[in-house]
Amino acid sequence: MGILDGRRLLITGVLTPASIAFHVARVAQEEGARVVLTAHGRPSLVRRVARRLPEPPPVIGLDVTDTGQLGSLAERVGAHLDGLDGVLHSIGYAPPSALGGNFLSTPWEDVATAVHVSTYSLTSLTMAALPLMGPGGSVVGLDFDASRAWSGYDWMGVAKAGLESCARYLAKELGPRGIRVNLVAAGPLATTAARGVPGFDGHDWDRAAPLGWDVADAGPTARACAVLLSDWLSATTGEIVHVDGGAHAVGG
Ligand SMILES: NC(=O)c1ccc[n+]([C@@H]2O[C@H](COP(=O)([O-])OP(=O)(O)OC[C@H]3O[C@@H](n4cnc5c(N)ncnc54)[C@H](O)[C@@H]3O)[C@@H](O)[C@H]2O)c1
Repeated sequence: MGILDGRRLLITGVLTPASIAFHVARVAQEEGARVVLTAHGRPSLVRRVARRLPEPPPVIGLDVTDTGQLGSLAERVGAHLDGLDGVLHSIGYAPPSALGGNFLSTPWEDVATAVHVSTYSLTSLTMAALPLMGPGGSVVGLDFDASRAWSGYDWMGVAKAGLESCARYLAKELGPRGIRVNLVAAGPLATTAARGVPGFDGHDWDRAAPLGWDVADAGPTARACAVLLSDWLSATTGEIVHVDGGAHAVGG
């Protein structure tokens, strides 16, 4: 028996085999979950990546800025699963002008894109999936510690601060329906999204973290997501679980 035996999960954010979401999907299947993936832009690319999973899952298209695609999401997921026990939000994007030291001159339109895709989508995705979810459901999002300002992270850092607040409000609104909303604040991992942040190589993290940190190992982050998607943390909501080797807890 795995900790996700029989649980039905919608997993967003698979782009490459390095994507955090790919590792969550892998761990989830190993732990007994049934999975549907979403793909932004090129479903054929994600289908190819998904073939590397223990069991290639169905892939459906989803751009979280497209209200039509959000509106039809429950129906399209419902064609593969008769309900949902969990949703993984593993989505982030900020235009280049919003990253890499342009903080003081980023135009609003680019800030708006970053917040739309990376922050507001936690709510819009959750609401789109809600018709399929009941008590015991779990929503998990991927965060990067927003309690500090990081070099080069700029408006993505602001978007993550918003994501942290958004998760707390969702937890407040959905708790009475028995649905939990939590975030995993991961240390830096070598993915496509991370490569888009100038200077974001994560090597200092290994020195700062009491447990050390491997930017090439998404396993600890994926397993933390799996635990939150399971019913093992059934009284935990509005929480941020740091999976960062302990870096957030220590000074220099
Ligand atoms: N890599 C890190 O160092 C790190 C650390 C902490 C948190 N995170 C967060 O983890 C999450 C996943 O990122 P990743 O590092 O696995 O990189 P990734 O590039 O593999 O994943 C980002 C995903 O966002 C999706 N996406 C972008 N715009 C979208 C849209 N409009 N609609 C739907 N999907 C869209 C992309 O298709 C991609 O699958 C992000 O929220 C990221 O901020 C990453």
